[in-house]
Amino acid sequence: MWLDGKFITFEGIEGTGKSTQISFIAKELSARSLDVLTLREPGCTKISEKIRNLLQYDKECHNMFPETELLLFEASRAQLVREVIAPAIGKGFWVLCDRFFDSTTAYQGSARKLPMHIIEMLNSFAAGGYVPDMTVIFDMDPALSLGRLTGRSTNLDRIEAEDLEFFSLIRKKYLEMAKNDSRFVVIDASIEPVMLGKNIMNEIAKKFF
Ligand SMILES: Nc1ncnc2c1ncn2[C@@H]1O[C@H](COP(=O)(O)OP(=O)(O)OP(=O)(O)O)[C@@H](O)[C@H]1O
Ligand SMILES: [Mg+2]
Repeated sequence: MWLDGKFITFEGIEGTGKSTQISFIAKELSARSLDVLTLREPGCTKISEKIRNLLQYDKECHNMFPETELLLFEASRAQLVREVIAPAIGKGFWVLCDRFFDSTTAYQGSARKLPMHIIEMLNSFAAGGYVPDMTVIFDMDPALSLGRLTGRSTNLDRIEAEDLEFFSLIRKKYLEMAKNDSRFVVIDASIEPVMLGKNIMNEIAKKFF
């Protein structure tokens, strides 16, 4: 769809190692003389970072309805796509994005149970027709990945504080999405970081090199 740039997104529940691997993949791709831009959702523009704070940390926003949450994620995304992602892809960058609209399908659609047809419509509206070239799904048992997080901090954000059942629904939805679309690659994220990084690079190489 694009001239040169690539758009790769990284998905999976909390604590599966997305942020850890994105920095590794960014280094690997830069070492091949590619222009790389790493981003994370929600955030990465002035407006989107303010929305991120409302969504995750603002103590006054804990009474948030699922509909409000959905629209805030989409608003953050609409800004990020137009201000950053589209121009970067246009300049030939490899854009690596920590979460994108598949998170909305899994979290707000499957776990919060908002109507899927509305999610799909809003995802496509916010993304302005942009679809990732490849989406890596970090798959592992939520009990294990959430255990990694409690190791990280006792101060969990609004969404991290949900229960195991919530994250199991999300994992199930990611796997279901992956079954129906060749854009997705599912990776076993329970293994140690070095091997995990190699596996992801192999998948990227298979697809693009
Ligand atoms: N392959 C791995 N094996 C064991 N621990 C890992 C692995 N990858 C990352 N970790 C550790 O698990 C924790 C979560 O990793 P990371 O922050 O990369 O996950 P994440 O998917 O980005 O989480 P979030 O969705 O909350 O941002 C960190 O403490 C990290 O050091
Ligand atoms: Mg992360």
